[in-house]
Amino acid sequence: MTATMPDLEQQFEQTIERDQRIEPRDWVPEAYRTTMIRMIAQHAHSEIIGMQPEGNWITRAPSLRRKAILLAKVQDEAGHGLYLYSAAETLGADRGELTAKLIAGKQKYSSIFNYPTLTFADVGVIGWLVDGAAICNQVPLCRSSYGPYARAMIRICKEESFHQRQGYELLMTMMRGTEEQRRMVQDATNRWWWPSLMMFGPPDADSSHTAQSMAWKVKRHTNDELRQRFVDMTVPQAEALGVTLPDPHLRWNAEREHYDFGDIDWSEFKQVVSGNGPCNAQRIAHRRKAHEDGAWVREAAAAHAAKLRERTA
Ligand SMILES: [Fe+2]
Ligand SMILES: [Fe+2]
Repeated sequence: MTATMPDLEQQFEQTIERDQRIEPRDWVPEAYRTTMIRMIAQHAHSEIIGMQPEGNWITRAPSLRRKAILLAKVQDEAGHGLYLYSAAETLGADRGELTAKLIAGKQKYSSIFNYPTLTFADVGVIGWLVDGAAICNQVPLCRSSYGPYARAMIRICKEESFHQRQGYELLMTMMRGTEEQRRMVQDATNRWWWPSLMMFGPPDADSSHTAQSMAWKVKRHTNDELRQRFVDMTVPQAEALGVTLPDPHLRWNAEREHYDFGDIDWSEFKQVVSGNGPCNAQRIAHRRKAHEDGAWVREAAAAHAAKLRERTA
């Protein structure tokens, strides 16, 4: 007997209900498929574009040790992008098409990577705050209802925690250094703090995708919950480091048992997301050039694969 639509839908609902994973062979509603592809592609693009701001410092790292650490970190991000494109392919997406959409500006990546890295302290602050925020976002995604995404996220999170620690360790070292180094760390913290809070996306009241994503257990917490968790985690780290977070409204609220914080400038977020951030054009131009420069590699790989197929046939 063949399964009817209502059967399939019921099976899907039950899988979600029982907290089991949806796998590539399972039937899914079209809206679930599109949501997952959109989410995974945006995540993959963020990993790949995210290599640029820090990659900018590889040739200028202050020591061999720092260069090796940074190189490994940026390479990890490339790996994350590749796992995620593979996860998107299990839903029927085409990697080439996803890249084409990215460089045509039709798919998004995290707005954080549209800010410039002005000094080497930015490398440390990105590890601490940007990878720290990514961890807050991604740890719950290890329990996402889509199996390939959840499993990719487990491995990615392990590497992200290394990224956060290397950033924090770099900042600790700089804070023990000269007055000038401490000033660089404070300046980088001032520039990256608010954009890091924006990484969690718009406030819950304005988030169009949250309700459905929560119902499908694709997302496990709302944007505001995760943002609060990040603030609560980061304030003691800033204190230990000896830097000031640039928010005069930041204070412990004993009643809520959370830190209160100031209002986020959502107009800046909207500007950056819609393409008008300080580095949007540069990031896309760089990605497009890398894609064009790699055309011969893709052609050669395809020709080789065709030859192998011919030989076995
Ligand atoms: Fe990553
Ligand atoms: Fe990372």
